[in-house]
Amino acid sequence: MAVSARNRQARALFAPLGPTYDRYARLLSFGQDPRWRRFLLSRIAAGPHDTVLDVATGTGAVAAQLVHETGCAVVGLDQSAEMLATARRRLAGAGLADRVRLVQGRAERLPFEDASFDALTFTYLLRYVDDPSATLHELARVVRPGGTVAALEFGVPPRQPWRALWELWVDFGLPGIGHALSPGWGEVGRFLGPSIRGFYREYPLERLARLWRRAGIDDVRWRLLSLGGGVVTWGQRA
Ligand SMILES: C[S@@+](CC[C@H](N)C(=O)[O-])C[C@H]1O[C@@H](n2cnc3c(N)ncnc32)[C@H](O)[C@@H]1O
Repeated sequence: MAVSARNRQARALFAPLGPTYDRYARLLSFGQDPRWRRFLLSRIAAGPHDTVLDVATGTGAVAAQLVHETGCAVVGLDQSAEMLATARRRLAGAGLADRVRLVQGRAERLPFEDASFDALTFTYLLRYVDDPSATLHELARVVRPGGTVAALEFGVPPRQPWRALWELWVDFGLPGIGHALSPGWGEVGRFLGPSIRGFYREYPLERLARLWRRAGIDDVRWRLLSLGGGVVTWGQRA
């Protein structure tokens, strides 16, 4: 499958962010992102003999947490060489390099055999692919039957006044703060609001859950976190 314009756009967006990603990603989620990740990990059933695939691993935050909390081995996959370079430094610094193997590749075409992982996580991925349904099929393909799949994504708070505050934050707060941090974060600040809104316009949570089921993932559930600013979805490979 050829590299698409959207793949290239995501590569360009993330290329300058690696070294500052962890610090500023937390800031841009109002400090909520660590909480969301903890809930994501609580949905994953894995132990020391299991191997978990973390797709769009970025700087390896979820991968490191998976090893700490479950003792499992992790394969972290991302299309960005720059984000993986930061992940490599983080994992070496934490003494986890022997438990996490990093692979450069695309979620749309995973370089792994069918059913080769005991569980799978992905965070902030589906807004960056052309065809979320096809990508979900590809993600499900590499998980063994019974393995858990869990994902974290930004959400749009459904209720007022939080919705109005969220709109103000993504329209003015994020672009302004991003711009003040660096040109790269300025780009992210302008990109995120339209990206999140556009994604849920096309894929409301109920539709997304149907796509998960069609991809071969059963018992699909989701939970809104921080008044809907974050969404964790999970299920079990059929
Ligand atoms: C917002 S970052 C999230 C990183 C990490 N999951 C986290 O939560 O800190 C999104 C990541 O998705 C990666 N990405 C985007 N499109 C991808 C694709 N099609 N296949 C693999 N990785 C992709 C980017 O390179 C980037 O590292």
